[in-house]
Amino acid sequence: MKFTGINLLDELAKDELAELRAVFNERAFNKGEIIYTPEEEDNLVFIIARGRVRIYLAYEDKEFTLAILSPGDLYATHAGCYIQAFDDAALLLTDVQSVKSMMVQVPLFTRTMVRVLGHILQNTFSIIGSLAFKDIYNRLMDYILREAKESGTPEGDGIVLNLDLTTEQLAQLMGATRQTVSTLLNDMVRAQLMEKRGRGQYFIPNIEELKRAAGE
Ligand code: HEM
Repeated sequence: MKFTGINLLDELAKDELAELRAVFNERAFNKGEIIYTPEEEDNLVFIIARGRVRIYLAYEDKEFTLAILSPGDLYATHAGCYIQAFDDAALLLTDVQSVKSMMVQVPLFTRTMVRVLGHILQNTFSIIGSLAFKDIYNRLMDYILREAKESGTPEGDGIVLNLDLTTEQLAQLMGATRQTVSTLLNDMVRAQLMEKRGRGQYFIPNIEELKRAAGE
């Protein structure tokens, strides 16, 4: 769920777009800081300039992560989600009205919007499907398979996977408790589907076997 591609920040740094760039105000946030809540009254659009930002739903003590956005991605405060600095982060903020003219003048703005929202929608469909049809173990295997495909590094016959998430953060993505996710990860290691390498790092010796275990 790390969104990469053509970068809106590079585009906005171009001299000819200096005027458009000037409508953004930069604000820094500390890691873990809640940037916006669904009750937010400001109607702003922001581009992530530095660090990662987590978009999530929360109800009482339960949280569900919809996306972890990276520099160059954009989002809005009117989407009914909690927005949190996942690392020390900086955002370029502007009002929705300024964005309307930007959408006409900078095609990459609209393309980035479609890419980010498309990825979030894809992830949301997968979450709905998992919640409706699969148990947590399958959801976790699905997530690991997806990450291995998108950001894994081949090594010999296997794949090295750097999850870059704590067990707590992974649990929030799965809609499960930390203890459950930790037990399931250990089960996968015991079943030799993965080897633990270090903090958040795993080696998948045989991706086909993991796919079979996940029922794909
Ligand atoms: C990349 C993220 C997003 C950007 C850049 C963005 C930007 C905008 C802009 C510029 C408008 C004003 C359109 C106009 O007045 O003509 C708008 C309206 C709106 N957006 Fe978003 N948006 C984003 C995500 C979302 C999401 C995720 C939701 C819902 C979950 C959402 C719900 C709405 C609604 C309901 C309106 C209409 C509000 C009204 O007319 O009162 N937006 N958005």
